[in-house]
Amino acid sequence: MRVLGIETSCDETGVAVYDARLGLLSDVLYSQVAMHAEYGGVVPELASRDHVRRLLPLIRKALQQADTAREQIDGVAYTAGPGLVGALLVGAAVGRSLAWGCGVPSIGVHHLEGHLLAPMLEENPPQFPFIALLVSGGHTLLITVEGVGQYKIIGESLDDAVGEAFDKTAKLLDLGYPGGPVLEQTARKGDPTRFKFPRPMTDRPGLDFSFSGLKTFAMNTLHANEMNEQTKADIALAFQTAAVETLAIKCQRAIRETGLKQLVVAGGVSANSALRERLNALAVKERTRVSYPRLKFCTDNGAMIAYAGCLRLQAGELEPPRFEARARWSIDTLTAL
Ligand code: KG4
Ligand code: ZN
Repeated sequence: MRVLGIETSCDETGVAVYDARLGLLSDVLYSQVAMHAEYGGVVPELASRDHVRRLLPLIRKALQQADTAREQIDGVAYTAGPGLVGALLVGAAVGRSLAWGCGVPSIGVHHLEGHLLAPMLEENPPQFPFIALLVSGGHTLLITVEGVGQYKIIGESLDDAVGEAFDKTAKLLDLGYPGGPVLEQTARKGDPTRFKFPRPMTDRPGLDFSFSGLKTFAMNTLHANEMNEQTKADIALAFQTAAVETLAIKCQRAIRETGLKQLVVAGGVSANSALRERLNALAVKERTRVSYPRLKFCTDNGAMIAYAGCLRLQAGELEPPRFEARARWSIDTLTAL
């Protein structure tokens, strides 16, 4: 089975072709980052309009790179949520129409299921069951994964997602958008001894997170000190260390509580090298295997949607005749394959 995957949930238009037998055949991406940078964050209406402009040429390019004619496509997968509704509707409308025109089934994929399964595209993929740490701009979740669609949320952020906290702290430090990667770069020049930030919610039991306090802590630290390049770098490093340490403490707890010896880390923040280093060290200590997607599949992409869609289509899953684009959609409501 060969599936065309479309991702348009936020500010990247991603298209890929995945073949169940041959693997990933193509993967193309257009990032809207430059357009939104001017506004310091994603402007939903501009995002939707840009997906309209980019999507059809990208589909052509993805098919061409995969050396695949439209007639060779056996199904179309698109992101149905969660995300920006206008942006999602573009992928849903194009994906469903294309499938209908080609006489093949279409399937609406959960964006976070896409992220969570992205490490399966790598060599030596993780085996079920495992613990997943999903860290993106919109979500911070710890999930036990028994199989595709068998997800139980065991921890989540009660306020900001960790990626959102990176973005807000970067904005506060006037580092630009998107905040995560630039904050990571800035933190490299930071002095680790200057500031120490708290590790929120690690002093009580449980696996939930809270990251909005870290952003406030960064703001107060900034106001109490002379604002210069070194101060910015020192705050960036202290923030990143606290965020990473907090995630690692909760992962350790999750490993010990569930007894699962396999951890999968996915979503935009899983590209962060300080986080990877810390979790790799944790994995050694806990005799646990840790898997990540390749860097370009940590952030949004079409490949993860094509892959997740292919698994569901192969299992014979059919989608309802009505259009689906959901701004909010909990991952633990999905059907098991
Ligand atoms: O998964 P993703 O592309 O989109 C969502 O589904 O939200 O994640 C984007 C998030 C943003 O908050 C971005 O700042 C963060 O991932 N991010 C990073 C890094 N690269 C992306 N955060 C920290 N370090 C990075 N290297
Ligand atoms: Zn995402």
